[in-house]
Amino acid sequence: MDEITVRKIDKLLNLMVDNATVVVSGEKIARELNVTRSQVWQWVERLRNLGCEIQGVPATGYRLKKMPDLLAPELVRRELGTSSFGKTIHHFLEIDSTNDYATQLAISGGVEGTVVLAEGQKSGRGRMGRQWYSEPLKGIYCSVILRPGLPPAKGPLLTLAAALAVRDAVCRMTDLKMDIRWPNDLMIGGKKFCGILAEMSAEVGRIRFVVMGIGVNVNHTSFPKEISHLATSLKLETGKTWSRIELTGQMLKRLESLCREMEKAGGQGIINRWSEISSFAEHKRVEVHSNGTSFFGETAGLDENGFLRVKRDDGCLETIYSGSIAEANEPVKES
Ligand code: BTN
Repeated sequence: MDEITVRKIDKLLNLMVDNATVVVSGEKIARELNVTRSQVWQWVERLRNLGCEIQGVPATGYRLKKMPDLLAPELVRRELGTSSFGKTIHHFLEIDSTNDYATQLAISGGVEGTVVLAEGQKSGRGRMGRQWYSEPLKGIYCSVILRPGLPPAKGPLLTLAAALAVRDAVCRMTDLKMDIRWPNDLMIGGKKFCGILAEMSAEVGRIRFVVMGIGVNVNHTSFPKEISHLATSLKLETGKTWSRIELTGQMLKRLESLCREMEKAGGQGIINRWSEISSFAEHKRVEVHSNGTSFFGETAGLDENGFLRVKRDDGCLETIYSGSIAEANEPVKES
């Protein structure tokens, strides 16, 4: 499907949601989308295949009777209440990467709190050049533009805040016990269900913008075998299907309030909360992969910018600025 078609089907969906109480004539829809009525009918069929219950025929008009858990802006905004994040939401049935789209928006002046949501991604990106598995309609694929009044050195704290935001949102909806692996992987029972990709544009002394990309495995029932030993979803952990609309709303509200708190009070509150929650903050034996090398050590807390300190086996204390860590599998040596 080309991008224009995706955008037009999306516009059709939003038009149906906005006018859910009335029958919208096929002619009006065709006019608004600048396409023929038979094209409208084909796209209505496509929405029906996605689970939308739409009453009507081209000759009279269409009315939305039941909406599946699609992240239509109107529905997500209802969850957001008065929050300023999500005032502008760009929604796609399919996109390459929400982070790429949000970056383009940010470059052309997109305001803080602008959100890009997709039902599926063709080239979802993860940290360290990895791919992000983005099964359509199952996960949340979301990018938010942030324009914090912070120096670039404090940028990593925003990533910790995003991990806390998702964690708090999931806590409000489920009883799941979660862990955070530095910097921002959310884990349940040692498997990852949420990843965050923060991409920053900065100049000396000032962050221009950060695109905070959040991927949450919500209703996945399986994963490709290459990642099935590493990945999980809320559905796999609870046996229940969860509302992606509600979770997205909760997540965005929480992210907004944590960002405000950081701007007002600094990052120490975020560091403290992250450290209370994460079993990786201190005294965890880990393997560190950073800048093409790897070593073993024990975690020794976060510094004031959110970077992880690790005490290497040779006794040196090292601060990890980039890379990833994993719980060390090797048994701790007996002295
Ligand atoms: C990671 O754990 O490696 C980070 C994964 C981040 C995935 C999200 S999904 C929405 C946004 N768009 C992308 O292409 N990536 C992020």
